[in-house]
Amino acid sequence: MKKILEVTDLCKTYIINKRQNNVLRNVSFSLNEGEMVAVMGPSGSGKSTLLYTVSGMDAMTAGQSVFNGKDISKLKPNDLAELRLDEMGFIFQQMYMLKNLSVLDNILLPARQSKANKLSSKEKLEYGKKLMHKLGIIEIADNDINEVSGGQLQRACICRSMINKPKMIFADEPTGALNRSSSDEVMDELCKINSEGTSIILVTHDAKVAARCSRVLYIVDGNIKGEYNNTDNDARKRERSLNNWLLEMGW
Ligand SMILES: Nc1ncnc2c1ncn2[C@@H]1O[C@H](COP(=O)(O)OP(=O)(O)OP(=O)(O)O)[C@@H](O)[C@H]1O
Ligand SMILES: [Mg+2]
Repeated sequence: MKKILEVTDLCKTYIINKRQNNVLRNVSFSLNEGEMVAVMGPSGSGKSTLLYTVSGMDAMTAGQSVFNGKDISKLKPNDLAELRLDEMGFIFQQMYMLKNLSVLDNILLPARQSKANKLSSKEKLEYGKKLMHKLGIIEIADNDINEVSGGQLQRACICRSMINKPKMIFADEPTGALNRSSSDEVMDELCKINSEGTSIILVTHDAKVAARCSRVLYIVDGNIKGEYNNTDNDARKRERSLNNWLLEMGW
């Protein structure tokens, strides 16, 4: 199996007022191409920091993250920015859309910025609309960002993360702000995208969301404390056995 992401001895230390906070301590894991992996763990355990550092959005203090054969920490800033734009997709709650653009224009922005995306402007527009159709939000294409619901915005974020056909999506609590039914719908879409070949790593506090991933990593105090393989084909059984495992982990 080809690895899409290989993380070795990753450390991240923040220094605030001369005090060191070792947020990630020698974290190692890998993701095979086409996998969908959930990251769980207590608040403050370092899950978001993990996504930021392995994807090169934030610098690591030590260790290595190899994405699609490229060592992230060795790339020049411009090359890293291009890699992120062309081969990675991001669904981060903090990454708000631009307020002065329509939903569709926000979704198209990464495609318009990319040099590697060789589609014509018209083709990009068509593809953006196609994604909005797929996610069931085409009717809000021309809305302003502040004229949409949380669920719609989250779906728009998924469209934007997909616009340059990334190899992998990094998602930080993609269903965090949603009610059960919207959350299930967003997960349906992420699972579909995954089954079409895009690898996904997502942080979640929701065992039901994690039960739909092939593997769950459990982080405590900046370390992977345990790893769980979701093997059961039956959704309910998967949830039940994952919940039991999470209890063992101290969830
Ligand atoms: N930019 C930053 N500067 C300094 N410290 C930070 C920064 N970002 C995060 N931290 C610290 O790193 C630790 C881990 O934060 P992180 O956001 O990764 O946790 P998390 O597991 O995602 O938590 P949550 O479940 O609440 O989202 C916390 O102690 C936090 O205060
Ligand atoms: Mg977080």
